[in-house]
Amino acid sequence: MDFNEATLKDRLAGKFIGGEVHFLPEIDSTNDYAFKLAQDNAPEGAVVIAERQTKGRGRLNRVWQSPPGRNLYTSIILRPPVEPSVAPQITLVAGVAVAETLSLYCPGRVAIKWPNDVLIGGKKVCGILTEMKTSGKGVEFVIIGIGVNINIGQEELDEAFRAMSTSIREETGGVVSRLNLTAELYKRLEGLYIHFIREGFAGIRHLWLEHTDMVGKIIRVAFKEDIKSGKVAGIDHDGALLLTNERGESIRIIAGDASIVKE
Ligand code: BTN
Repeated sequence: MDFNEATLKDRLAGKFIGGEVHFLPEIDSTNDYAFKLAQDNAPEGAVVIAERQTKGRGRLNRVWQSPPGRNLYTSIILRPPVEPSVAPQITLVAGVAVAETLSLYCPGRVAIKWPNDVLIGGKKVCGILTEMKTSGKGVEFVIIGIGVNINIGQEELDEAFRAMSTSIREETGGVVSRLNLTAELYKRLEGLYIHFIREGFAGIRHLWLEHTDMVGKIIRVAFKEDIKSGKVAGIDHDGALLLTNERGESIRIIAGDASIVKE
């Protein structure tokens, strides 16, 4: 019961990410709310957190299950001074922040799946939805939406997701403080984001690789009608996924939905 507007504001006061908190008991989607706030000039680092979402969304407009009192549903407003083509790298930065945070609870068991999922024991525990608004050649703002299954029970998960999803509570066997986890996540995201803005993706790439178990696996990546498969060789200097196909050729993937074909 320590997860509310007052405790969050108190815990995050003075911080760059989370220094301005918009806490909502119920909202359609924190990403939509944050998008509107950003259009109304909310500052970089402002965050939206909802107790419950009625239209929580994932990539490809998939539903993100968002019951009250259990999980974290948050969206962060960023205003990176980068070109639009660079902005998707921030999804990978956020993935590292989530993986580092969740590793405190489940050491050695957390893995990032390119581009935007975080898994424990092969089951999804977090999804990241990045959206942006551009103006001219630049980025006006980026919204990083993060959903973490913290205390939801396996039995509460929709049947459609149950076999492939998990929560921190399921993995640790105990209820976890959403306040502590959220504060830790923003702290790590702040450090990594500042590093990214100063040094570019180069300084984040090796951290991302340390937190993934995809390298060497055979995967299939679908982007609309286009499907590519190959063995994961790593990620490129700009975050693109690198595959080697059966003819030994190197393929760069900049967007798509990845699934593991063979470990
Ligand atoms: C995915 O796995 O496809 C991304 C899921 C992202 C879910 C989060 S929950 C907070 C924010 N608000 C949303 O509507 N979606 C994101």
